[in-house]
Amino acid sequence: MARTDGDNWDLATSVGATATGVAASRALATKQPDPLINDPFADALVRAVGLEHSIRLADGEVCVEGDLMLDRERMCEQIAVRTRFFDDFFLAAADAGIRQAVILASGLDTRAYRLAWPADSVVFEVDQPAVLEFKTRTLTDLGAEPAAELHTVPIDLRDDWPAALRDNGFDPQLPTAWIAEGLLIYLPPEAQDRLFDNITALSAPGSRLATEHMDAASLTEKWSERVSEWSKKVGSDVDLMDLFYSGERTSARDHLTASGWDATVQPTRAAYASHGFPYPEELDDLAGDSGYLSATLKTPN
Ligand SMILES: C[S@@+](CC[C@H](N)C(=O)[O-])C[C@H]1O[C@@H](n2cnc3c(N)ncnc32)[C@H](O)[C@@H]1O
Repeated sequence: MARTDGDNWDLATSVGATATGVAASRALATKQPDPLINDPFADALVRAVGLEHSIRLADGEVCVEGDLMLDRERMCEQIAVRTRFFDDFFLAAADAGIRQAVILASGLDTRAYRLAWPADSVVFEVDQPAVLEFKTRTLTDLGAEPAAELHTVPIDLRDDWPAALRDNGFDPQLPTAWIAEGLLIYLPPEAQDRLFDNITALSAPGSRLATEHMDAASLTEKWSERVSEWSKKVGSDVDLMDLFYSGERTSARDHLTASGWDATVQPTRAAYASHGFPYPEELDDLAGDSGYLSATLKTPN
């Protein structure tokens, strides 16, 4: 079903189910011998949501050796590269003295529970109400405890989330580390621009931001076909393409650079190489200039 303004979901439906799918990949990667990443809560969270195809994904039952999309090693490498990029981003920000972190579109992200945050860190998670409520309750039932002071901010990111963030204790005077992982394509283009403008307005100089950078030239027909094929192959009854807003948009890098951020993009191929993983040749033509973006807000002159 196509997207509509103000649509909402839980972790088993629409955009919410994509958060469960990503967590299932983290669960699968965590279960491998000598795992590349460790998300000790992902598997239990996916089972608690109860979506059959996501549980099968977490159990590796959809894996097909040698398949471009479903090869186990390839799937685990893809999610490991992504997860480590955002993990390392937060740890580096903490090392640099940043003590306020915001996870936008947190889904089933468990970084507030599993990263080694410095003692005085405050972490904010922002996502739709049903998503946050379910994750927090399930983790509490599992006996998981946040490793930082955690504030959840249940709100739609198309609404006035900056006010909700402030009302929940966010301090715009402090430098902040922000992540938006797996979010942008689910926002209409103008909502993406507004998201970055709001982040900029809430950021003290020295704040940092990490997100994916998508090269518009890579969003081809072939890419759409691959995305739809993936949805079918993993057994989802939702075609991911129906959840994306695929129209023209200003790239994250261009928008942030124009807003006073120093932004760099690590190309996907280089991100793989940094972990010693070969980048699948067959994906090269689809990646274009896409990659992982990190940015620091410059001090005004
Ligand atoms: C692909 S999941 C990524 C979740 C998490 N960042 C991760 O990587 O595991 C997309 C997430 O974006 C959230 N999201 C998308 N659009 C949103 C919106 N308008 N308001 C709040 N959350 C949104 C969904 O609820 C979901 O949790």
